[in-house]
Amino acid sequence: MGKKMTEHVEWTGKIDWELKTFHGHELSTHRGSSYNSYLVKGEKTALLDTVWGPYRKEFVDNLQVSPGLDKIDYVIMNHNEPDHSGSLPELMKKIPDVPVYCTANGEKIIRGEYHLDLNFHVVKTGDTLDLGDGVVLTFIEAPMLHWPDTMFTYLNADGGILFSNDGFGQHLAANELYADTADESELYYEAMKYYANILNTYSPMVTAKIKAILGMNLPLSIIAPSHGLIWRKDPQQIVNKYLEWADAYQEDRITVIYDTMWNSTRRMAECISEGIGEASPGTTVKVMDASVADKNDILTEIFRSKAIVVGSPTINNTVSYAIAGLLDMAKGLKFKKKKAAAFGSYGWSGEGCKVVTGFLKEAGFDVVNDGIRVMWAPDQAALDSCTEFGREFVKAL
Ligand code: FEO
Repeated sequence: MGKKMTEHVEWTGKIDWELKTFHGHELSTHRGSSYNSYLVKGEKTALLDTVWGPYRKEFVDNLQVSPGLDKIDYVIMNHNEPDHSGSLPELMKKIPDVPVYCTANGEKIIRGEYHLDLNFHVVKTGDTLDLGDGVVLTFIEAPMLHWPDTMFTYLNADGGILFSNDGFGQHLAANELYADTADESELYYEAMKYYANILNTYSPMVTAKIKAILGMNLPLSIIAPSHGLIWRKDPQQIVNKYLEWADAYQEDRITVIYDTMWNSTRRMAECISEGIGEASPGTTVKVMDASVADKNDILTEIFRSKAIVVGSPTINNTVSYAIAGLLDMAKGLKFKKKKAAAFGSYGWSGEGCKVVTGFLKEAGFDVVNDGIRVMWAPDQAALDSCTEFGREFVKAL
């Protein structure tokens, strides 16, 4: 059921404790998620966004109870990916004439996804919707944050509230609505994972949009995203984080990522990480097996790292499925200003290291050397070479 947030705003979304993957299986959501929908009330009432389709019945039933479907005067769709628009068809069956406010691309997506002919009102940046009683909503287009239809909606009342949809969100289920009630490390890990895996590729647009909004000098007491917790205490904190994350973010971290068939590449990875640690004791070094670690957690580690070292055994003249898939995902996410190198064991043809190097270059990493490869199982001399390789890698950064 709904939860009152401020004088004019009520949360009416769905907390999804069960969700373990999102975007099909592209993104892991270890801590569930929520689909935040909001009611904004002046003399008229607007509903902002809906919830994912599997929850459509309870969502519409809740609205029937409060405020009553006949009390919804406007529907505003900030973004029409199915996690936010999935309940729209069920809702609009009940209130077919209510105007639906969205961007031009939003209308195209609703028509394309649901084949619905609704009472569309297409809006652009700066357009407003007056709900009466001094309550005014202003629309701000935010294309490619992260879909072409995305927009934010700003409420002038209650100190200023920015409804930012996916922006500033986290996949994090919690009964408490607000970020200031959360475990801070969980909250920021999930916010960062969300940014790294969904928004990083659009970082130039993130920076430009945030600067444009800051330039509007709007009062801001709350940022209310459509996933996870709402930023009520110092909402500027997540804006500042986004500006940092969008600017080729990196920490003093190096991640060693490998796949292995018979442990040779794993032993190389461990020695390389030891060499890195010896040469740079202050650097956090993490070692991750790409075939067993969660791919989105690895990508989050890459996002945080200043450099990565990636290894695969040679398999059928190329590299493992896990390494190829991971580096292709990294390519799509367009990480910037990160150094890299490759390694791997082999039995005869030995292309793996070279293939990884090629993938790293294609994904935009600055590859600092030709990598290191070891034939068959590494003996002590080979392991020592890997440790030395780790030390030398640090010198090349
Ligand atoms: Fe949360 Fe892009 O949908």
